[in-house]
Amino acid sequence: MLQKPKGTYDIYGDNALKIIYLRKLINALMDKYNYKYFKTPTFEKSEVFHRGVGVTTDIVSKETYDFVDRGNRNMTLRPEGTAGIVRSFIENKLYADTMPFKAWYFGSMFRYERPQSGRYREFLQFGAEAFGSYDPMMDAEIISIIVNFFELLGLKGIKVNINTLGDNESRLNYRKALMDYFKPHIDSLCDDCKNRYEKNPLRILDCKVDADKDIMKNAPKMVDYLNDDSLNHYSKVKEYLKAMGIEYVENPRLVRGLDYYTHTVFEVEADIEGFGSQNVLGAGGRYDDLVETMEGPKTPGVGFAIGIDRLLLALESLKIDITEEDYLDIYAFCFDEEQRPYMMSLVNNLRLNGFNIDMDLIGRNIKNNFKHADKLKAKFVIIIGEDEVKTNIITLKNNETKEEYKIELENLIEFLDLKISEE
Ligand code: HAM
Repeated sequence: MLQKPKGTYDIYGDNALKIIYLRKLINALMDKYNYKYFKTPTFEKSEVFHRGVGVTTDIVSKETYDFVDRGNRNMTLRPEGTAGIVRSFIENKLYADTMPFKAWYFGSMFRYERPQSGRYREFLQFGAEAFGSYDPMMDAEIISIIVNFFELLGLKGIKVNINTLGDNESRLNYRKALMDYFKPHIDSLCDDCKNRYEKNPLRILDCKVDADKDIMKNAPKMVDYLNDDSLNHYSKVKEYLKAMGIEYVENPRLVRGLDYYTHTVFEVEADIEGFGSQNVLGAGGRYDDLVETMEGPKTPGVGFAIGIDRLLLALESLKIDITEEDYLDIYAFCFDEEQRPYMMSLVNNLRLNGFNIDMDLIGRNIKNNFKHADKLKAKFVIIIGEDEVKTNIITLKNNETKEEYKIELENLIEFLDLKISEE
C-alpha cells in the first residue's frame, strides 16, 4: 500500500472542519486588525532562506527540503513564512506604499525534523508580518493578535514569554560578554553548543541539553548590555502590553532559532498538564535589519507565526471542540433516469440561490436514499418522480418531523428560505 511520507498527515473529516473554522475565525480577526491576506510561493530560490533565515541556523543547515529543479536551479520548500514575504515586499516595491504594511498568511511549511507529536515535516502556520514601524506599539499589537486569537478560542494555560535581543550595538556587546564568559567552560558544553560558540553564541542560551547546568544559569543577561534605545524600546513594549491587560513573563534566556531578530522576541507556550514537549504554540519577534539584509531599503519589521497543528492538539487536550456542525439544507433524489435532468436543473438552481444541497449521485433505492439523507444530516428531502416533472409541484419532506409538503416550483425557494430560517 502506498503511504504518506514520514512526518506528514492527511486532513479530512473533523480535522478538515476544524481547519475551515479556524480559517474563518482568522479571516474575521485579521480584518479587525486591518492586516491583508498575503500568499507567497511554497518554494523559493534557496538563497531566499539562506539570506533570510540565516545559514548558521538549524533550520537552514539541517532542516530544509532542498531540490534542484529541471532548469538546474536550487530551490527550497519554505521552512517558514517571513523570508518569502520579505522577498516579495522588496521585489514588488511594497515599501513605496503607505506604512505600516500589514500582512497575514496561512499555509504549509516544511522542515526535515525528527517527527513526533506536535512536530511534523509538513505543518501549517498562521502568521502575520508588519513592516515600516520602529514603534514598540507595533510589537505590542503583533503579540496582542496571538493572545486575542487564543482567547477567542477559549484556550487556557497560555504563557507569553518575552525577551529583547536589543539593537546591533547592544547585541554585539552581549555576544562578546557571552564569549568571554563561556570561553573557560567550553569543554563542558554539548557538541552543538561548541559549534554555536563561534557562529551564534546567543543560541547557547536556549540549548535544551545544557539547560540545567550552573554555567547556563549564571550566564550574563542581555538586559545588562542594552543601550538606552534598546532598553527604552523594551520597556515601552511591556508598558503597552500591560495597558492591554496582556500578561507576560520575562525570560532572559529566550533567543529564538532564527538569525533575523532584533529587539523584541517572544514565544507563546501552552502550560497545559500532560501536553507534549512541543508546547510552543506560536512565536516571533522584531527584525529591523532583515529587509536590508535581503537587499531592500532599510525597513523595520515585526511578526509572528502560530503552529496550527500544535494549536489543534492544545484545543483537544483542553477538550475544546471547535468542530462546527456539518449538515445539509436539502438532499434530493429521483425515482428514474428520466427525471435526472429535471432534478439536476432544480438542484443547480437551488445551489445558485444559496442552499447547501446534495443529491443522489449513484442511483440508490428509496430506502437507501432516506438513510443517506439521515447520514448527511439533511434538513429537507426533495423527491422527484414522474408527477413532479409533469406538474412542477415538488414533494419535499422535513427529515426531522417527517412532515410532507407539496410546493409549486415557483414558490419553492421562498418556502425553503422560510422553513430553513425557522430551524
Ligand atoms: P518558528 O518559531 O520557527 O518561527 O515557528 C513558529 C511556530 O510554528 C512554532 O512556535 C510552532 O508552533 C510551529 N512549528 C514550527 N516547527 C514546527 C514543526 N516541525 N511541526 C509543527 N509545528 C511547527 C517562525 O517560523 C517565524 N517565521 C515566526 C516569525 C514571523 N517571526 C517573525 N515573523
